[in-house]
Amino acid sequence: MDDGAVKLNAYIFETTYKPMKHVYLILCFLSTGLFAQKIDVNKQFALAGQQYQRMLADHPDTSTTVHSARPDGTYRNLPSGWWCSGFFPGSLWFLYEKTKDPQWEKAARLWTAAVKKEQFNTGTHDLGFMMFDSFGNQLRLTKDPQAKQVLIQSAKSLATRFDPKVGLIKSWNSFKGGFKYPVIIDNMMNLELLFWASRETGDKRFHDIAITHAENTIKNHFRPDYSSYHVILYDEEGKVLAKKQHQGYQDESTWTRGHAWAIYGFTTMYRETKNKKYLDFAQKIADYYLNHPNLPADKIPYWDFYAPNIPNEERDASAGAITASALFELSTYSGAKGKRYYQDAVTMLSSLSSPAYRASLGENNNFLIKHCVGAKSLNSEIDVPLVYADYYYLEGLLRYEALNKKAKN
Ligand code: GLY
Repeated sequence: MDDGAVKLNAYIFETTYKPMKHVYLILCFLSTGLFAQKIDVNKQFALAGQQYQRMLADHPDTSTTVHSARPDGTYRNLPSGWWCSGFFPGSLWFLYEKTKDPQWEKAARLWTAAVKKEQFNTGTHDLGFMMFDSFGNQLRLTKDPQAKQVLIQSAKSLATRFDPKVGLIKSWNSFKGGFKYPVIIDNMMNLELLFWASRETGDKRFHDIAITHAENTIKNHFRPDYSSYHVILYDEEGKVLAKKQHQGYQDESTWTRGHAWAIYGFTTMYRETKNKKYLDFAQKIADYYLNHPNLPADKIPYWDFYAPNIPNEERDASAGAITASALFELSTYSGAKGKRYYQDAVTMLSSLSSPAYRASLGENNNFLIKHCVGAKSLNSEIDVPLVYADYYYLEGLLRYEALNKKAKN
């Protein structure tokens, strides 16, 4: 090699490989850090127990359900007919599942009973949220036959909202602009109750309603890039009249919690049917979310992927908790792709477990997770705790723990 070539090689090494070596080392360090992320589930549950003991002490009366807090520091409790009434009892059931401590079973039964009358509620599509997260967890953990009867009645009430001409469960009874058949993406979360009821009763109608609803949701609720609309407005024959946002920023943006419901809902569709079409769809919409350029490094999204002032917009930690829990399940069905879903779910759960989102004892009105958004578009519940963020956070911790135990065995 002549002197010029040596100099050239030295130059190439100095300018290209040496800096790249640093980049490589930094990447190794980061990825080692990432893979070494460990969430202390026992510690998080111990803290959750202490917080929820305080929450119970602050709520001696079950006539309204634990929901959120107001900016003035007072609790915002709502009636059992509100879509969120199953989440607090559900979280108490998760505490019981983890600890087997009878105090949590007692509290969970009490708060679950407070939702019982909603089994007859035909005025809402949210019976999956309300009844399956409360009575569904009670049944799963205690095999209580009374819970089974409540859930069968709840499925019957939910099925009254399905019109075969439209091919979807009606979400809300009306929508601004005189629309009479609104269907929201969140509705995907109520189908699990129908699959369960179909198996339990042998009545295939529940199963068929869930499938038809999901098929029409795939057809109408998504754009070609797998982003989602919040509200689809149908006429009485099932024709799409309009596609709108309600809790998101704009009709053509993507409300992140709505998209989280979709990831969770289609993952459940695959679990319940084993139809690969739903797995493929769940992966495509999960990829849209995870690859979005506006998803921050800690993987807790802004309240809308196109909120107008990103990065100066509120995060919605509830969307992060729902997505993390869904991705843990999706990872188990996804072969080699599953590693990425698992790792991203761990990043989300680690973020939620950090002081940036995880309340310390006595903070945040005793809710576990800070920084959620109910509906910024409606100027409602901005940067507050929300009971469903706590629910999916605890579910995510349990799923993470179960997956790690399985990997060790
Ligand atoms: N299901 C209503 C919401 O996610 O805010």
